[in-house]
Amino acid sequence: MIRNQWYGILESSEVKSGKPLGVTRMGERLVLWRTSGGELVCMIDLCAHRGAALNIGKVCQDTIRCPFHGLEYDTSGRCVLIPANGRAALVPSQFKVASYPLREVGGFIWLWWGEPRDDLPEVPFFRDLLFGFHYNTLRSHWAAHYSRAIENQLDVMHLPFVHYNTIGRGNYTLVDGPMTEWVDNELRVWVQNRIDDGTLPLRPDEVHPTRGPFLHLRMPNVWMNHISDNLRIVVVFAPIDEANTLMYVRFYQRVVRVPILRELFTFAGAKIGDRKILAQDRRVVITQRPLKSSLHMDEKLIQGDRPIIEYRRRRQALQELAQSSDLLGY
Ligand code: FES
Ligand SMILES: [Fe+2]
Repeated sequence: MIRNQWYGILESSEVKSGKPLGVTRMGERLVLWRTSGGELVCMIDLCAHRGAALNIGKVCQDTIRCPFHGLEYDTSGRCVLIPANGRAALVPSQFKVASYPLREVGGFIWLWWGEPRDDLPEVPFFRDLLFGFHYNTLRSHWAAHYSRAIENQLDVMHLPFVHYNTIGRGNYTLVDGPMTEWVDNELRVWVQNRIDDGTLPLRPDEVHPTRGPFLHLRMPNVWMNHISDNLRIVVVFAPIDEANTLMYVRFYQRVVRVPILRELFTFAGAKIGDRKILAQDRRVVITQRPLKSSLHMDEKLIQGDRPIIEYRRRRQALQELAQSSDLLGY
């Protein structure tokens, strides 16, 4: 995982008020809960007293209470009550649990994986999806590092093979380009696949797209397929740990607007359309070794892998940046 980034980790609806939720993300056991006022909190799921999991404890208004001996923690992770010592006793400052900054944007929960600071950047979500769209979500667990799952969504050569009987029908095996461009931390990809007519693929600089980019990746873990202005597929790749990823795949549409029909269409897009395609991808990606990709590794890449190379380069650059800012102390 790259430090000092916002990661989409869950959907907002998964954390209900009054009920703590225990999950593993970023390789850590975390507990998420909401105060009675609705404020969302995320902390390490480990009581400072003797290591019990807080997620099986209770939310008491603005604190979470450990199920074992009742220690209560506030939203910052500071322990405010040790019942056996009594309300009158002072709580020593070492009784605390680390907590993470969070945001809720677009129905996702975003966790700041790094040093908390006042000037956190904006959450890397696609703002245009916040207005007028309906969506339905499909969740899919992959036994793969999230970098492999992301690369699969940037892989423009696998369609006629992995999806030969679905979205890859037609034997469009030859890949022109693809053309890529970075805009801040967003990678944009244009691609044209065609039937092999005996000519060589066009080089990336020879591709002259007639419409906007198809694929958008916002570092570190959100991707969008821009099918049309009114139809999109978005994936948040929530890192569980080094070997597991939870994919939140959303089908967004603003084509059908009539209530009920609209819900049916959105549901069908996500649950029927995306499920089969995703299963085809997963079958192959979970076999890739090594589990985690990196810029310098023993793979033989070709022109069509350009978006993947771009992703690996940026990933490495952000990792180096995070390491140097850690060294500098911010
Ligand atoms: S382990 Fe949590 S209160 Fe004792
Ligand atoms: Fe695929």
